[in-house]
Amino acid sequence: MQSFSELAQSVIFRRKGSKLVLSEKADELQFIGNGRSAVVFRVGTTNKVLKVFLPPFIHIAKEEAEIYKALGEQPFYPKFYEVGPNYLVIDYIEGHTLFNCLLKGVTIEWKHIKEIDYALILAKTNGLNPSDIHLRNIFITPNGSIKIIDVARFRQRKTCSQWSDLKKAYSKYYQHKLFPKKVPAFFLNLIAFLYKKSFLQSFFTNRLRM
Ligand SMILES: Nc1ncnc2c1ncn2[C@@H]1O[C@H](COP(=O)(O)OP(=O)(O)O)[C@@H](O)[C@H]1O
Ligand SMILES: [Mg+2]
Repeated sequence: MQSFSELAQSVIFRRKGSKLVLSEKADELQFIGNGRSAVVFRVGTTNKVLKVFLPPFIHIAKEEAEIYKALGEQPFYPKFYEVGPNYLVIDYIEGHTLFNCLLKGVTIEWKHIKEIDYALILAKTNGLNPSDIHLRNIFITPNGSIKIIDVARFRQRKTCSQWSDLKKAYSKYYQHKLFPKKVPAFFLNLIAFLYKKSFLQSFFTNRLRM
């Protein structure tokens, strides 16, 4: 098997309009997801993933690695193995992100919400400030426990209310007996978009008091 560094070097992006898209990669790398800053691959048949950052975001690799080190080995976060100039190697997480749970109708239980709360408190006790906690960064694994990924913003200073807003929406809407347990992707993406643009901020502050 090639080294993680060689595998990361095999990943080439090309420009398509205003976006950077994946253009080449080693056969051993199996695409499993992407976000705003990186593309993530499962490495061969291992239980490891290689997170390769897009050229404008490569500085995040070191920051995210430092945060995984600060978290230490905890059951709620993937294990960290290696960092390079533009990549990270962490555990592969099986299961569904909360986003996929909503798409597929997999029930998100109150015990999962409590476990996420606990995982975030643990991060705080390690001196971190959990931020960017959204539906695509939290997994429910096949044994029903939770894992949080994408910890790159856990050292930011400003307060992030994303998780407390999600919890309010969970109590007020998701737990309502008439709320559909399966939600179309366009609707979830629309809510995420409006939230990011702060259009829903007053709604969360005024309407969703807990
Ligand atoms: N360790 C992992 N195991 C399984 N899937 C993962 C893992 N890390 C990331 N992914 C998938 O890749 C997507 C993008 O990864 P993420 O770390 O959130 O990138 P970004 O920092 O660009 O947001 C995630 O939403 C998830 O679907
Ligand atoms: Mg992400």
